[in-house]
Amino acid sequence: MNIAVLAQRLCHIAIWRLMVIFGMLVAVSIVSHCIALPFSKTLSPSPANKGSIVMVVPSAALLNNSPPNKHFVVNLVVGNDTYASSGKDAGYGKETKETYKFNDLASDGDTKSHREYKFEKDDPKASTNLTSNKVQNQSGNLPVISQGTPTKGMGNFDADSRTSKPFFADNISSIGNVNRTMKIKPKGKKIRPLQAVSVTLNHKFSVASISNSILKRWEKQATSISQMNSILLESHVSSRSMRPNWSSVRDRELLSAKLEIENAPVIRNMPGLHASVFRNVSMFKRSYELMEHILKVYIYREGEKPIFHQPRMRGIYASEGWFMKLMEGSKRFVVRDPRKAHLFYLPFSSQMLRAELSGQNIQSQNDLEKYLKNYVELIAGKYRFWNRTHGADHFLVACHDWASRVTRQHMKNCIRSLCNANVAKGFNIGRDTTLPVTYIRSMEDPLKDLGGKPPSQRHILAFFAGGMHGYVRPILLQYWENKEPDMKIFGPMPRDIEGKKVYREYMKSSKYCICARGYEVHTPRVVEAIFHECVPVIISDNYVPPFFEVLNWEAFVVFIQEKDIPNLRNILLSIPEEKYLAMQLRVKMVQKHFLWHKIPVKYDLFHMVLHSIWYNRVFQMKSK
Ligand SMILES: *[C@@H]1O[C@H](CO)[C@@H](O)[C@H](O)[C@H]1NC(C)=O
Ligand SMILES: *[C@@H]1O[C@H](CO)[C@@H](O)[C@H](O)[C@H]1NC(C)=O
Ligand SMILES: *[C@@H]1O[C@H](CO)[C@@H](O)[C@H](O)[C@H]1NC(C)=O
Ligand SMILES: *[C@@H]1O[C@H](CO)[C@@H](O)[C@H](O)[C@H]1NC(C)=O
Ligand SMILES: *[C@@H]1O[C@H](CO)[C@@H](O)[C@H](O)[C@H]1NC(C)=O
Ligand SMILES: *[C@@H]1O[C@H](CO)[C@@H](O)[C@H](O)[C@H]1NC(C)=O
Ligand SMILES: *[C@@H]1O[C@H](CO)[C@@H](O)[C@H](O)[C@H]1NC(C)=O
Ligand SMILES: *[C@@H]1O[C@H](CO)[C@@H](O)[C@H](O)[C@H]1NC(C)=O
Repeated sequence: MNIAVLAQRLCHIAIWRLMVIFGMLVAVSIVSHCIALPFSKTLSPSPANKGSIVMVVPSAALLNNSPPNKHFVVNLVVGNDTYASSGKDAGYGKETKETYKFNDLASDGDTKSHREYKFEKDDPKASTNLTSNKVQNQSGNLPVISQGTPTKGMGNFDADSRTSKPFFADNISSIGNVNRTMKIKPKGKKIRPLQAVSVTLNHKFSVASISNSILKRWEKQATSISQMNSILLESHVSSRSMRPNWSSVRDRELLSAKLEIENAPVIRNMPGLHASVFRNVSMFKRSYELMEHILKVYIYREGEKPIFHQPRMRGIYASEGWFMKLMEGSKRFVVRDPRKAHLFYLPFSSQMLRAELSGQNIQSQNDLEKYLKNYVELIAGKYRFWNRTHGADHFLVACHDWASRVTRQHMKNCIRSLCNANVAKGFNIGRDTTLPVTYIRSMEDPLKDLGGKPPSQRHILAFFAGGMHGYVRPILLQYWENKEPDMKIFGPMPRDIEGKKVYREYMKSSKYCICARGYEVHTPRVVEAIFHECVPVIISDNYVPPFFEVLNWEAFVVFIQEKDIPNLRNILLSIPEEKYLAMQLRVKMVQKHFLWHKIPVKYDLFHMVLHSIWYNRVFQMKSK
């Protein structure tokens, strides 16, 4: 179905209020997972509620890879008025003038730029036909399949979530109440209807429910933080790195650094460092000092722009770009003579790799893999360093969702600094290291809007807003959207300036900020929360948090397993005020480690990323 027909189909919406459209948006954002396959969608007024019901009924029968006899229903009941959000206009009820980009505000590691919901102003040519959309009832059997065409020029590196397995509710009767209600109250603003809506989507629907498949996933796979701690200790004790083909002076330097770190003098007073946020601050300090004094990095010159050597400094994948830029510009660490290097940097951008090489087909991950294989063969053939350790002293820094998959084979011995740090999907604790996701809006001023309110002025217990990516967020909303006044749990917020401001205000005035996984385990919310001094609540099983090697995350973050979402509020309320205050203070202490500076400063994000790579390499060395 082409856009014109789609637009026509949807134009009847014109007579419904804008808020209905927002409701639909929330609905379409429930779309999730994988693959630009057709999905079906029906928007229909409910006779019972004067058009204030939007129903979205995806049919599994229409999706290639789902069992034909299973159907999903998501009802979104949307009031006609606006959203009563702490007395502020949350931007929801804003009158549309231009095209809106309507996206997950705080994006998710994967699909950020990916989906664009486009709202257009009145189109006189589009006719309105209400009867053409039948009210859909819950038995499935859908009239429409609509597939949006990716909007050009909107940064559609889309469908990255294809890495993720599609998820479907197994069974509608098993999922209980999937209705969600979103009350919307205008703050004195009259909302005007729109006439044409075009929706660009590349994802199938998933359902706001706890299905059998999710339950199974939870039973099988959730790795707790204490289990991750054990894996880390184990990895350091066993030093499982393979023996180098021949030993070098650099190995001996690393080995002696390891011994020094292990026997670090216990220090009480450390300017600039706070013992309570580290596993062992004495060891960290010693390791950091040694890194500053010893570490040399060789950067391969091979590789063409834009995939290599061309940092992208903005957006959701900005971490890899900032690291590349600062690493390539580092006088302290970079050496021109590879024989002097302890570590070898493979300076490619996973974002650009994806953007340059991928078509819309699902094979493209293999193409990316092949491309990297050729690159590895090139440097392994040209230099002798790769073969010496089979890549173990080489590293990459990559933030795209796919990076984990496309580097798992040919770069499997490398130290991989990855945003998508999923211990259930090949992330190797103790060798790989987690790259924080930093959503950079202003390249010139990455520290803009830093900070938040003091604890005494944080009156909201918990805040979340974002697109319905993945299976966790629909569940989060199902349980907590509009349930308690102190739980501000929302779907996507507008991505205009006002929407972003509101989002920040929430982060600055909430006690806890919910960092729920999207399609993949990582989310920029962790760093955003730290940035605004809000205590992060990580709901993302198997996610290994950044700098796990050295930071004591449990001191400043609340980890909640996905299956405990129903208890979310009780868990948060059960945390004593004193403990909360301590955590909040530590969030402020740890903040500096998550900040980019155009000229790197001590203990900042650039140095922390490099340190974790160094630290993991050092602890691979066998002490014999
Ligand atoms: C929705 O709008 C209709 C007519 O405009 C009104 O009668 C009804 O009370 C409204 N519903 C809510 C929930 O405000
Ligand atoms: C509206 O839809 C109905 C049923 O699909 C059709 O019979 C009718 O001609 C349409 N009207 C217009 C104005 O398109
Ligand atoms: C719902 O669908 C069933 C089966 O397709 C049909 O028998 C029933 O009349 C429909 N109900 C409404 C309200 O359309
Ligand atoms: C659907 O769920 C119900 C209740 O949990 C269960 O009894 C039934 O076997 C399920 N059906 C399928 C096809 O999974
Ligand atoms: C959804 O809400 C409608 C109206 O409130 C209700 O009749 C229906 O039973 C609900 N569906 C589920 C699955 O709870
Ligand atoms: C060590 O390197 C040499 C030359 O690159 C190679 O021929 C040999 O097979 C390597 N040995 C091992 C154990 O990898
Ligand atoms: C930190 O590490 C040092 C060196 O291994 C050790 O002496 C010290 O006891 C450790 N401190 C803590 C709190 O574990
Ligand atoms: C490294 O090993 C590969 C494959 O074993 C080989 O093709 C290549 O020539 C070796 N590189 C060097 C510099 O010897």
